[in-house]
Amino acid sequence: MAKIKTTFFCQNCGAQSPKWMGRCSSCGEWNTMVEEVIQHGDGGAKSSGNFKITENKPKQLHEIAQGNEERTVTGNGELDRVLGGGLVDGSLILVGGEPGIGKSTLMLQVALQIKGRKVLYISGEESEQQIRMRAERIGYKEPDCYILTETNTQSIFQHLEILQPGLVIIDSIQTLQTNIIESTAGSISQIRETAAEMQRFAKTTGVPVFLVGHITKDGNLAGPKILEHMVDTVLQFEGDRNYGYRILRAVKNRFGSASELGIFEMRDTGLREVSNPSEILLSQRDEEVSGVAIASTIEGLRPILIETQALVSSAAYGTPQRSATGFDIRRLNMLLAVLEKRSGFRLGAKDVFLNIAGGIRVDDPAIDLAVIAAVLSSNGDIPVDSKTCFAAEVGLSGEIRPVSRIEQRIAEAEKLGYEIIVISKYNSKTSKPAGKNIKVITVGKVEEVFRLLFN
Ligand code: TYD
Ligand code: MG
Repeated sequence: MAKIKTTFFCQNCGAQSPKWMGRCSSCGEWNTMVEEVIQHGDGGAKSSGNFKITENKPKQLHEIAQGNEERTVTGNGELDRVLGGGLVDGSLILVGGEPGIGKSTLMLQVALQIKGRKVLYISGEESEQQIRMRAERIGYKEPDCYILTETNTQSIFQHLEILQPGLVIIDSIQTLQTNIIESTAGSISQIRETAAEMQRFAKTTGVPVFLVGHITKDGNLAGPKILEHMVDTVLQFEGDRNYGYRILRAVKNRFGSASELGIFEMRDTGLREVSNPSEILLSQRDEEVSGVAIASTIEGLRPILIETQALVSSAAYGTPQRSATGFDIRRLNMLLAVLEKRSGFRLGAKDVFLNIAGGIRVDDPAIDLAVIAAVLSSNGDIPVDSKTCFAAEVGLSGEIRPVSRIEQRIAEAEKLGYEIIVISKYNSKTSKPAGKNIKVITVGKVEEVFRLLFN
């Protein structure tokens, strides 16, 4: 077997060096040199110069057999939804997230739940006993699931050869190590090479592979960013660890929509699927309180009703404090400036705190109007009617702007028993939104909203 050649490349400018350097001599960037394989032992595809004719020939589109892209349901409804309807054969799926968010729990649940496929769960992080304990906690019934604690890819492939599983889960990619490269597990070159090996395995055998990847808060560790190009699907697991709710987002998906999301709740018996998120994200309360407004938002393709909570009080110090949880603080400042400048509310000397209930993050601009309603409600200490919800964006001049898919938002609000929904008047021009049991009120300016709510 010929020797494997590696060399170091700068990730910033591409300069090459036979030795590792702390600082690239060409562009001057620090810590950018990464070891890469330039010639594999078998003198295969990567060796330059001598081209080999492979069996693959160029084909015209109509000559290519139509793949009917069969999907296997994993038995986990929320995961299937995010994947775009189930697992596609031969796909490589990266599940990323901060440590402790629940990636291993989700993967083990899939391994124990999936029907009709032999699963190999390879862990480099936990011992067999730990995995057994976790499985006991989750609960299982005679699954066709094998556990392997191994990190060396060459021996992993030997086991794969013997066991012939129908699904492989690797927890995590940062612990894998290939013999080809000498650097330690978790380094960029190891991650890239082992992921490439798993990719080849998935594509040649048609067995889907899940890779778990860590993201650290400071992003120092070789994160799964470099993997995103290599895999078919990137799922991001996120959520506030202090709350029980977890959101699984598709960041990239070659086999489905990249805006889909699944919601889970972490219980002491594992992750529970939350198929009706609105009900849990609305806090239960008996009496009406000021500073609370409900927004009809759309996350992914799903409408979700979300509670926004605001607290406005006189500033204790010279500079008023503004803080937002689950909402962009710059957007909150912008909305407060609109209220101050366009509608004359004196909020400049007030502390404003905003919170999105449930510990989730919202990017949908349709939440703006609910934020404004919650702030005004807290400012005047007048509760918003608890059967009213909102769905509109607010522009810089104080105009209430239309939002997409308004029919779906109205329908969700109606389903949950809301009696009034406030939307932009420009929405009703393009579409004729109608609900049978819900009254649709249209507004054009922030002042109209204030008059509507508190007069
Ligand atoms: P884990 O799946 O180990 O996270 P990751 O693999 O992303 O690092 O999840 C760890 C957390 O989940 C840990 O704090 C314990 C909690 N947990 C539960 O609350 N209930 C459960 O049933 C399980 C298995 C874990
Ligand atoms: Mg883990």
